[in-house]
Amino acid sequence: MPALSPAADASAPSFRRGRFDLVTITFHWLTVLLVTALFAIAWSLHSVEDADSAEQLLMWHRTLGVTVWVLTIARLAWRRTGAWLPPFPPTMPTLQQWVAKASEYALYALLIAQPVTGMAQTLTRGRPFPLAGIEVPALMAKDKALTHLLHDIHEQSAYALLLVIGLHAFAGLLHGLVLRDGVLQAMFPWTRPERRLERASGPS
Ligand code: HEM
Ligand code: HEM
Repeated sequence: MPALSPAADASAPSFRRGRFDLVTITFHWLTVLLVTALFAIAWSLHSVEDADSAEQLLMWHRTLGVTVWVLTIARLAWRRTGAWLPPFPPTMPTLQQWVAKASEYALYALLIAQPVTGMAQTLTRGRPFPLAGIEVPALMAKDKALTHLLHDIHEQSAYALLLVIGLHAFAGLLHGLVLRDGVLQAMFPWTRPERRLERASGPS
């Protein structure tokens, strides 16, 4: 059956949003888990006194951070090729739809930039380091000033990421618990898919 016009469907009284495809949903919640673990590990580093435990935690931080980077690239590629993006509910103003999309792209940008500054500060320390249990040799000479700068950028952009995540999660909960318009439900695997509708116009 050909896809129905999104505008016609979106204004129908029986509008059901359905959900994202399962690959997108898996990417989404896996990223939430990994980012939560990354912050938990980073913050617990400050309270660990034993150098070996700190090094072990940092190894996990780097490894999970690189995993987030790879997952985000794969996720963006999937979004451009095979992802199913359900249309927004007709009750959601266009400006709000654009704000939602802009914040999602900000999340993508931060999820790509954050591991890059993390890796860069690790490399400028000029020492070999373990990553996923593999010893990576020193790839460049030590540059203390650059390491400090990159550490500051990594720390500040982590706060920026946290802020956008907070607003994004708040908006998601508002839609799910107060507005009950199907926006939050679209990210749950147990919601019934509604494949007749396409997000063919507006933000994608
Ligand atoms: C989405 C991915 C990442 C997030 C959210 C994240 C977050 C953080 C946070 C919140 C801190 C603590 C900053 C502070 O208070 O000093 C930190 C520190 C750090 N991160 Fe990341 N990070 C990520 C990826 C990476 C990657 C991929 C690497 C390296 C390959 C890395 C290396 C480091 C290092 C070396 C530190 C400093 C630890 C220390 O103080 O000794 N991070 N990160
Ligand atoms: C680490 C935390 C999070 C990150 C990085 C994140 C990232 C994203 C991104 C990039 C999208 C765009 C859809 C895609 O391309 O996959 C999205 C959509 C969505 N997220 Fe999150 N998210 C996070 C946490 C949450 C939480 C905690 C909730 C629920 C309270 C949530 C609810 C949603 C919903 C409902 C959508 C679909 C919005 C739409 O219809 O466009 N997210 N998220």
